[in-house]
Amino acid sequence: MTSTTYQFDNDTRQLTPLQAVLDPYTIRDLDTVGVWAGQRVLDVGAGAGSVARHLAKRVGPTGTVIAVDIDTRLLDPTDVIDVYECDLRRGGLDLPIEPGSVDLVHARCVLEHLGNRVDLLPALIALLRPGGWLVLGEIVYSRALIHRAPTANDEELIARVWHAILDTLHSGGTDLEWGNHVHGHLLDAGLTHVYSHTRADTWTGGGPGCQLLADNARQLHDRLLAADTGMNEADLRRFGELMADPTLALRGYQYTSTIAQQPGP
Ligand SMILES: C[S@@+](CC[C@H](N)C(=O)[O-])C[C@H]1O[C@@H](n2cnc3c(N)ncnc32)[C@H](O)[C@@H]1O
Repeated sequence: MTSTTYQFDNDTRQLTPLQAVLDPYTIRDLDTVGVWAGQRVLDVGAGAGSVARHLAKRVGPTGTVIAVDIDTRLLDPTDVIDVYECDLRRGGLDLPIEPGSVDLVHARCVLEHLGNRVDLLPALIALLRPGGWLVLGEIVYSRALIHRAPTANDEELIARVWHAILDTLHSGGTDLEWGNHVHGHLLDAGLTHVYSHTRADTWTGGGPGCQLLADNARQLHDRLLAADTGMNEADLRRFGELMADPTLALRGYQYTSTIAQQPGP
């Protein structure tokens, strides 16, 4: 399935909370692999650019961040950040980057959405210099776990919407198991120091994680109502209210990241 259409709009209502939830995980991964002044790094599917901007600070004025996305409206070029519009489904990474010339390739919550994800991996790896690092992260399917909700009915509703969001994404071509398979693919590709880490934090109503969930339900609204879940408009309205309720606590999306190094000096 190489023609999968990305199922969200690049909207700050989605990407701002996504970044707030995931940036601490990504920064930890970048600390682990190391990013140095003067390096040339690539952020694939850079979205609203928080990781590209973080990388720009780390590589400094002598370095380069190449930020690539199909939708570059939320990406601002700077002296350090070069922005390229590119559809990764068509011809992979058609960019003016020499093979073996990049110190770090990062992609977060991107490959899971792309039908040609398996073919893109060797293309990304080929860009790495010997000793360069790949940092990939994905949301992975997990069952809903609600720690506290106002009523038992609310708890049941949240679980139903949670599963419907993930099932809807899956039926549209997003592979929510992909994050579990990345590690094996990178070992098979001959990369070294392959290491995966899985996290899921508590999210509180009104916080960024619940804002992200609320926006996922907003963007998928029509498809959620059309799905065979028995859900109606009032249910989705109540879900939105619950996601803003500070007494609510649930376990957030599971996120698995994998780091791996190109063999070399
Ligand atoms: C869930 S967002 C993640 C954004 C960013 N990586 C982050 O984690 O903050 C997925 C990103 O992949 C981009 N994307 C989706 N399909 C794409 C394609 N075919 N080619 C290039 N980028 C794509 C989207 O535009 C969006 O910016």
